[in-house]
Amino acid sequence: MTENQILELLQTVRHPARQDKSIVELGMVNSVRIDGESVSVTLGFPKRRDPLAEYLIGATRAALIRGGVKNPEVLTVVLEDAAPKKKGVEFDTECLRHVRHIVGVASGKGGVGKSTVAVNLACALARLGFKVGLADADVYGPSVPLMTGTEGAQPMAEEVDGKELILPLEKYGVKWMSIGYFAERGQALIWRGPMASNALKQMILQVKWDVLDFLLVDMPPGTGDIHISLLQEIPMEGAILVTTPQEVALADVEKGASMFRNKNIDRPIFGLVENMAWFTPAEHPDEKYFIFGRDGGARMAEDLGIELLGRIPLVQGIRESGDAGEPAALGTGPDASAFIDLAGRLASKLG
Ligand SMILES: Nc1ncnc2c1ncn2[C@@H]1O[C@H](COP(=O)(O)OP(=O)(O)OP(=O)(O)O)[C@@H](O)[C@H]1O
Ligand SMILES: [Mg+2]
Repeated sequence: MTENQILELLQTVRHPARQDKSIVELGMVNSVRIDGESVSVTLGFPKRRDPLAEYLIGATRAALIRGGVKNPEVLTVVLEDAAPKKKGVEFDTECLRHVRHIVGVASGKGGVGKSTVAVNLACALARLGFKVGLADADVYGPSVPLMTGTEGAQPMAEEVDGKELILPLEKYGVKWMSIGYFAERGQALIWRGPMASNALKQMILQVKWDVLDFLLVDMPPGTGDIHISLLQEIPMEGAILVTTPQEVALADVEKGASMFRNKNIDRPIFGLVENMAWFTPAEHPDEKYFIFGRDGGARMAEDLGIELLGRIPLVQGIRESGDAGEPAALGTGPDASAFIDLAGRLASKLG
């Protein structure tokens, strides 16, 4: 089955409270995923609970089954704007007017601690007295809600000059925004190409950031289309790259670097952050074990002609505090000072 055939089936699902228009017409079909025999449809609902949501989910499932789909999956996602305009959403950079530095936090590959670094760097910059915001642009696996203990929060919207802006959450002196706030808890987010990039742009361009010294953008892992689209439409000043010290990571960091150095993008890389640079056991805070090799980050930085901006140790506390929603950078340990040092270096580099 093709996406168009699925959409045709969904045309038969009408919203009784909205002039009997179809959910397709109303822009409520957020995504359609077809994987061999299995079909999964995600419906977008406005933040205020639609009393007919359950009915529409059932009707959608029924329409798919009637159309011959075996065991269709119908998921929902809570949206700020349930009926985005058909032909792409128009964004402007008005809400970034009073933001001084927009810095992407990127990596070539996943799982190197990009979100951990982004969240802790944001807290550390705030501790240094800067006004800081963080946009979690990882539409596939948003981690900011968990890492900041703001899961389940429902950001409010406010009309500013005739435009609806989402109010970021404020905690630990930082303004946080994440696509995770708009998904139901524990529900996988399924986005595809243009929808994913729109959602992501919304998290940055439709937010009331007000005056900020730094807006960090936790980029999704990888170097794909979403990244290019993000870099083309967000006036990002430059980026920092996060890596682990292994030899094998070099190729990935290179990929990340070349994305920013691509001639159509051409943004500076402010520095490399070597995460998990060494292991320090909690009970022996003065010991360092270079389990992934020594000075890998420094060598990598030199090879790529990038400054090594910071080295973050691998300590159990960083993971635990991340899971507990209280970033390590807020504490007093050596891990906190590693993030504060990083923040200080970034701040002085950007003036
Ligand atoms: N320095 C560190 N010490 C201990 N644990 C860490 C450290 N850095 C990251 N972690 C842990 O490693 C895991 C992955 O980190 P994180 O989610 O920040 O990576 P990521 O690069 O953002 O991943 P993804 O590509 O999935 O977005 C998390 O459980 C995190 O708590
Ligand atoms: Mg992440």
